[in-house]
Amino acid sequence: MTQTNVSLKNYNTFGIDVTSAFFSEITSEDQLISLLHELKNKPFRVLGGGSNVLLTANYEGHTLIMKNKGIEIVEETDEEVVVEIQAGVDWHQLVLWSLEQDYGGIENLALIPGSVGAAPIQNIGAYGVELKSVFQSCRAIDLETLTHKVFYKEECEFGYRTSIFKTRLKGKIILTAITLRLKKKPHQTKTNYGALQDALKGKQHTIQNVAAAVMDIRSSKLPDPKKIGNSGSFFKNPILSIKLFEEIQKRFKKIPFYPEGHDRVKIPAGWLIENSGFKGKRVGNVGCHEKQALVLVNYGEATGTEVLKHAELIQKEVLERFNIPLEMEVNLL
Ligand code: EPU
Repeated sequence: MTQTNVSLKNYNTFGIDVTSAFFSEITSEDQLISLLHELKNKPFRVLGGGSNVLLTANYEGHTLIMKNKGIEIVEETDEEVVVEIQAGVDWHQLVLWSLEQDYGGIENLALIPGSVGAAPIQNIGAYGVELKSVFQSCRAIDLETLTHKVFYKEECEFGYRTSIFKTRLKGKIILTAITLRLKKKPHQTKTNYGALQDALKGKQHTIQNVAAAVMDIRSSKLPDPKKIGNSGSFFKNPILSIKLFEEIQKRFKKIPFYPEGHDRVKIPAGWLIENSGFKGKRVGNVGCHEKQALVLVNYGEATGTEVLKHAELIQKEVLERFNIPLEMEVNLL
């Protein structure tokens, strides 16, 4: 059913209060296709869990929210299962389901806010694991032909916080379901991320313990969007050539870095922001979180434009100080 003039405050984790002139919750692919037929040549956009967007203005078009649910095993061997999950399932609920079934592969991705349908778009990742490591395929509606398409992993062009759905196919398809390849016992967990290793000291590396450790780390330093509006990391961690990095390192000896392939390094944007003086600092209704400078927060009444202005100020200061441009990770709408 279509609603009119709906506040989107509860549909974005930043808690920005803008309206959408038209609004529908989508509970099945058939419903989506018939609505898209009605919307031909009219403006519309899709929100998943609203956990990676910054809404900067009221929208005159139609906002669609994916609410199609369902988790189904579609293939099974002694070693693994292939699971199809509908786009409207909450990502963390899927992780909890996999832990109950004892299927490994996504335990490091516990507590990431957002929906399953949004996960491939930015190839969600945390604590040394990215979605692409378990991803098999996804189903989507092609917005030109309004028919189904399947995209296999090789076609998705997954990279660090990116995929073909964020680049060439942006605005051209709507993801409706994904399939993941999850492992049965014995599990091979990935626990080399520093903070995770520490949290697991003296414990068995079962997928349940790994997920519990990830949840502890996340809740100790990332603000809960239900209490304080935010979209997780606001910027990507910049990746630089070794040559440029070495020049910067001469001036900033303590700058942390992680090798990325053989000729590039990744720099934590949180360090650059903290060392530009923004950590824990509040300006009006917005600021950088006190425990993780990379997370911009809404103290309650911020507008999207205020958040954006603060983000641009951070970009300017970091560029002036370190000569490193910061790219936004969240999508501006
Ligand atoms: N750091 C600081 N000050 C800060 C924050 C970080 O100096 O205020 C430095 C420290 O050196 C720290 C390092 O940055 O050791 C890394 O920090 P952290 O482990 O918190 O990870 P991150 O690189 O800031 C990335 C992801 C997160 C993900 C974590 C854990 C991006 C943009 N962010 O953050 O993902 O949870 O690693 O794997 O890649 C998200 O995408 O929304 C997100 C939260």
